[in-house]
Amino acid sequence: MDRFEPNLRIPGPTALPPTVREAGARQMINHRGPEFAAMLARIVDGMRPFFGTTGDVAVLSCAGTGGLEAAVVNTLSPGDRVLGVSIGSFGDRFAKIASVYGADVVKVDVEWGRAANPVAVRQTLIDQGPFRAALLTHNETSTGVMNPIPELAAAIRESSPETLILVDSVSALGAVPFAMDEWGVDVVVTGSQKAWMAAPGLAMVAASERGWAAMETARMPRFYLDLRRHRDSHAGGETPWTPAIGVVYQVDEGIRLMHAEGADAVFARHEACAAATRAGLAALGFELFADPRFASRTVTCVRIADGVDWKSVNAEVKRRGVVLAGGQGKLAGKVFRVGHLGSVTVEEILGAIAVLESVVIEQGADVEPGSAVGAAQAAALGTRGIHRSAAATA
Ligand SMILES: Cc1ncc(COP(=O)(O)O)c(C=O)c1O
Repeated sequence: MDRFEPNLRIPGPTALPPTVREAGARQMINHRGPEFAAMLARIVDGMRPFFGTTGDVAVLSCAGTGGLEAAVVNTLSPGDRVLGVSIGSFGDRFAKIASVYGADVVKVDVEWGRAANPVAVRQTLIDQGPFRAALLTHNETSTGVMNPIPELAAAIRESSPETLILVDSVSALGAVPFAMDEWGVDVVVTGSQKAWMAAPGLAMVAASERGWAAMETARMPRFYLDLRRHRDSHAGGETPWTPAIGVVYQVDEGIRLMHAEGADAVFARHEACAAATRAGLAALGFELFADPRFASRTVTCVRIADGVDWKSVNAEVKRRGVVLAGGQGKLAGKVFRVGHLGSVTVEEILGAIAVLESVVIEQGADVEPGSAVGAAQAAALGTRGIHRSAAATA
């Protein structure tokens, strides 16, 4: 197997396209010079349409969690009442960060596998408000659920116009449409190792005018993660601290590739890969963990049925070059996850399904060879409006 690159089907870090890898190997440059300034400007300009904003985007050298921490500490003060809407382990993390810094967090724990309900969120705001901020997870990577952010944001805006809306889109932004200005979202966080096809190391954070204004009065302690310092420094073509230059090179190249492909094509590719993954796994008898109406377009989470020797299946799948992700937190041992974001293609998904199909058949499952790959392929074609009968007559 050494001859092959693994088919890395975890929900980040995602595989790097060849030119992104090469970009990361480039020589260092002066991060206080014009070459870096031009690169930073390209990144910010290139990201704006994916955030759906005309505002400022801060590029931080830290993990996605650092970006979440920046969202909290820059906009809030100790004692602020905060609504933490959690649909899984990353929602728990966001709420935890706010409480560690002294926010008075009221947590809404949605059953794992389900999305947050805008009507219920609205009612909580009315019954238990006012809240200074609401924390939302766009794509809950632990459960494979994608929250309906426009509807949730609208519910919050209507019932509680003063509440800041902070969104963790670490594992979704860049892969699915987002319109923070239009939806009235105040802070959005994403991470380089997900849809952006780069190594871990950068968190990108965009804020609305309201979000930036909130930073003027927020009193939580901050220094390294101070977004105003980043914004002001970016205006001069720099970052306040020494940036992770190797990752900056990669994100610059990743965004170039995304624009060359076109945002709509990027989104359509993710939709096709998600549909293929879901159909292929369903044909193998794996039940989707997520409410199908809110199944994520970047990660699919399925239940491990009783009687399936998952350890043995996974070990064999891995030996054949397909790397899957296990369950997180309380889902450990109960589910597995397939990542389909970043530089993923439908063909890579079909390859992963083919390996999984062979392994489960070899281990005794009653599955017709090729049926899962066929179902996956048909589902991917279906997202492009191509169906077998139509294709045959075309
Ligand atoms: C939804 C979500 N939020 C936050 C994070 C945290 O990002 P990091 O691991 O880079 O800190 C992740 C990482 O998987 C994530 O999927």
